[in-house]
Amino acid sequence: MQANSLQEYLESVHRDYAGLDGGEVASYIPELTKADPAWFGIALITVDGHVYQEGDSRQSFTIQSISKAISYGIALEDKGVEAVLKKVGVEPSGEAFNSISLEPDTGRPLNPMINAGAIATVSLIAGDTPVAKMQRMLKTYKDYLGHPVMVDQEVYLSEKSTGHRNRAIAYLLHNSNIIEKDTDEVLDAYFQQCSILVTCRDLALMGATLANDGVNPITGVRALQSCYVPKVLSVMSSCGMYDYSGAWIYEGGMPAKSGVGGGIVAVLPGQFGLAVFSPPLDERGNSVRGLAVCKRISSDFGLHMLHTNRTSAPTVFHSIYDATMVQSKRTRNVEQTRLLAELGHTVCVLELKGDLVFSSAEIVIGESMRLSEKADKLIIDFTRVGTINGGALNLLIDLVRSQYDHGKTVLFTGIANQYVVKKSARGILKNLEELPLLRFDDVDHALEWCEECLLAGQGGVGEGEAPLATQAFCAGFSEPELSALEVMLERRQYAAGDYLCREGEPADCLYFLLQGQVSVSVPLGQRRSGRISTISAGSAFGEMAMLDQGKRSADIIADTDVTCSILDYTRLDHSAMQDDSVAQVRLKLVTNIARGLTKKLRQATLEIKSLRN
Ligand code: DON
Repeated sequence: MQANSLQEYLESVHRDYAGLDGGEVASYIPELTKADPAWFGIALITVDGHVYQEGDSRQSFTIQSISKAISYGIALEDKGVEAVLKKVGVEPSGEAFNSISLEPDTGRPLNPMINAGAIATVSLIAGDTPVAKMQRMLKTYKDYLGHPVMVDQEVYLSEKSTGHRNRAIAYLLHNSNIIEKDTDEVLDAYFQQCSILVTCRDLALMGATLANDGVNPITGVRALQSCYVPKVLSVMSSCGMYDYSGAWIYEGGMPAKSGVGGGIVAVLPGQFGLAVFSPPLDERGNSVRGLAVCKRISSDFGLHMLHTNRTSAPTVFHSIYDATMVQSKRTRNVEQTRLLAELGHTVCVLELKGDLVFSSAEIVIGESMRLSEKADKLIIDFTRVGTINGGALNLLIDLVRSQYDHGKTVLFTGIANQYVVKKSARGILKNLEELPLLRFDDVDHALEWCEECLLAGQGGVGEGEAPLATQAFCAGFSEPELSALEVMLERRQYAAGDYLCREGEPADCLYFLLQGQVSVSVPLGQRRSGRISTISAGSAFGEMAMLDQGKRSADIIADTDVTCSILDYTRLDHSAMQDDSVAQVRLKLVTNIARGLTKKLRQATLEIKSLRN
């Protein structure tokens, strides 16, 4: 493949096959002979709604047998699987589309893709009259294609006046009570559905909708209930190309459906819908160029649906780390930092990525079980997860249940858009209100909560005022040095919500937080702001300015009532020049600040390393 984009690739395929002759335009319905044998269009639409099209992709033509796939989905929705199976089987007939392939004892058609099965299927669509059935169908086409469709009256009347074989089949079906009543009306609706006008682009979108679990990827409208999508695709896989179905799935490897109008639609589940339109047909009623193009594209890109990639840990995990490697954005005092370094390995974070299916969820479960041998708390983050299928969800819910049964805690984060996960978790875990499973939006807040639990367990989140001596910046200070520092400090109180300082202000002092909690927050414009970190009693902030005399890079806001001791740098520098013992205090302070910054840098390096793993 030389082309450098999918569009160019389709153009080159179109060029390659435009000259492929052979086949005949269908003539058994007189009106179809009017089709131009040179018409040739290709369209491919992905499940993300990207449209690629080439040639006569906007030329309309009648859908013919491709309608059988849509009608089968409608019948399943209207009557349910059991009732539909009573009337129409799912076995390939290995015979032509218009064969009379009926089970000898019941008269049940072998599958819904041959005419007999398709006519029986139409009888199952809701609506007592052909008009009502057609309304039901046309509404569904609108959902699949994103626009209303019309019936080509000439083709419909042409087939109605010549479709004696279909009429005979319908009466055989009536004879064995497969069609229970109104046989002529059922036939009428069948003839009309075959004459619905579509384009190649429309068919690709129909395919993309099936590939996208029944939801039109451009409009977001659901055209078919999710549970019936695999049923429709199954019969397309086994029976969609009639007596060529086995060879087709062997070579092309995609569920597909053809029509005598010259259309073929192929579906690669989870990826795209592909349609080709070219009226000349082979002896089985499949478009000659359509088959060739589908096979070529399938082979060029290795698209056979059974050609799957193995799910492995690198495809499931974005990163795995514990709370000694990455901490929450809350700044801790010396003792808390020490405790968290000691106990942080009992909190593990698994950041997942990609779509979750049974096999990838099984990998998540295995890793979680391994980690929970030493960890009491698991944070599972779904921020980078796309879709989660039912099997994966069941496994994850089982994991939560078994972890809680063993006295462990699981927290799901990043699930704001995972409505199904939230709904099933709520439905299945009855006592969810008591569980923190869904309490936190992101890993940072979940980590902070886990850290608080660890510290509370060690009596490490004291309520009283934190003495100056416990501050990291005062490490190694003698009693007289502490007293010399204390003399220079000014004590200040702030009420919850007060700004201690604002971004852009000159930075001229260091704050020792003695009591309460503050947030470091950056204004983001349009009255929004983002929390960078939270600082609790026993820690200091505003130290960078001591080294660079710059401006405040963020707002500091009191989360609670706050007590601080404030050191004015100008005053410190001035006194240090006059008093050697203050100079010594200043030197120790600068050294501790430099150590603190080094520690932060090391921590950031560790974080980056663990996030890149
Ligand atoms: O029943 C028929 O004869 C047509 N209206 C539909 C047949 C058809 O498209 C067969 N497919 N290749």
